[in-house]
Amino acid sequence: MTEANEANGTAAAETIAAFRHRDDLAAIPVYRQGKPAPAGRRAFKLSSNENPYGPLPSVVKAIDAAALTTMNRYPDMHGWKVVERLAKRYDVDPASIILGAGSSEVITMLVDALSGPGTEVIYPWRSFEAYPIIVRGAGATPVEVPLTADLRHDIPAMIAAITDRTRLIIVNNPNNPTSTTVSRAEAEQLMRAVPKDVVVLFDEAYYQFNTDADTEVATELMREYPNIVIARTFSKAYGLAGLRIGFGIGPVPVINEMSKVALPFSVSDVAQTAAVASLDAQDELDARVKDLIAERDRVTDALAEQGWHVPPSGANFFWLQLNDLTDQVAERLTEAGVIARVFSGDGIRISVGTHEANDLVIETCAAIIRDLPAAAEQWGAR
Ligand SMILES: Cc1ncc(COP(=O)(O)O)c(C=O)c1O
Repeated sequence: MTEANEANGTAAAETIAAFRHRDDLAAIPVYRQGKPAPAGRRAFKLSSNENPYGPLPSVVKAIDAAALTTMNRYPDMHGWKVVERLAKRYDVDPASIILGAGSSEVITMLVDALSGPGTEVIYPWRSFEAYPIIVRGAGATPVEVPLTADLRHDIPAMIAAITDRTRLIIVNNPNNPTSTTVSRAEAEQLMRAVPKDVVVLFDEAYYQFNTDADTEVATELMREYPNIVIARTFSKAYGLAGLRIGFGIGPVPVINEMSKVALPFSVSDVAQTAAVASLDAQDELDARVKDLIAERDRVTDALAEQGWHVPPSGANFFWLQLNDLTDQVAERLTEAGVIARVFSGDGIRISVGTHEANDLVIETCAAIIRDLPAAAEQWGAR
């Protein structure tokens, strides 16, 4: 009996020692969520690329007025009220849009629909941590193509990795966690080289923050190449990460296949209502995005001035390549109340937060580089 069982007088259930399962489970990594800020002291959670702003009053009002009274009913499975709005916005057939519980689910549906045992999915690495989990979860083989020395997609190497087993190629623009962007010429180069029957996913979770004038926006490229699917989300710029809603845009036949492997009713009515209200409040949200971009530039400029090498960011976060110094720097950041995302042995990703949080990042980084000047030299030493 465990102590807890003893206390409430129940018998402990016997734990299953062995059970039949897929042979490949041991190879699937577990997703690690960004750490929360510790309670009881001044600390900022800058570990999940969330929007630091709370929900817009108009969004709260819309949810309160409609969605909360319909909880006894299943949501509209296709989310037409959102889909129709998005179709108009992107000037596409509503049948070419699919919703998911965050773009994570959209990506999962695409991988599940296209790939499986004996097939390959190509993506850059390091990139979004869910890719290996989703690809291995489908039973497919991940083909991870290392980033270039300046932490960008290596498009020629991704092209060279294509085989007749390739079912999907993922482009993450801007790339999480390195914040680097993919240029129009690079995207074109890739699309020209990819066989017409291989789908390319452009994961654009952070595209609203992408201020690189030379970058690709796949909603334009998809008019030229029909083998493109785009994943976008309401989690980041729209600040709805907790409600779980994202969407995919793609060719109708691909979207139809994705809908077969979708989890029915995964997008709640609350999330759908919030998404519509957010689309209605576009100007207010754009102002917030503009402010976050200004804050990002303020922080990254200040860090560059201090001597850090910060790759140009097209996102609401930035990256410090720290190699063996990663844990040391992470400890200093945590002590100071900056809760960032740490990739041990590689680097640290810091999200853009409120003005106050960003001030603390600037101040803390100044102190760290004073004590640890070698941190500045890690960039080229990879
Ligand atoms: C590159 C990228 N794609 C997709 C997602 C998924 O976000 P969500 O499922 O909240 O839409 C994230 C989340 O961090 C991300 O960084």
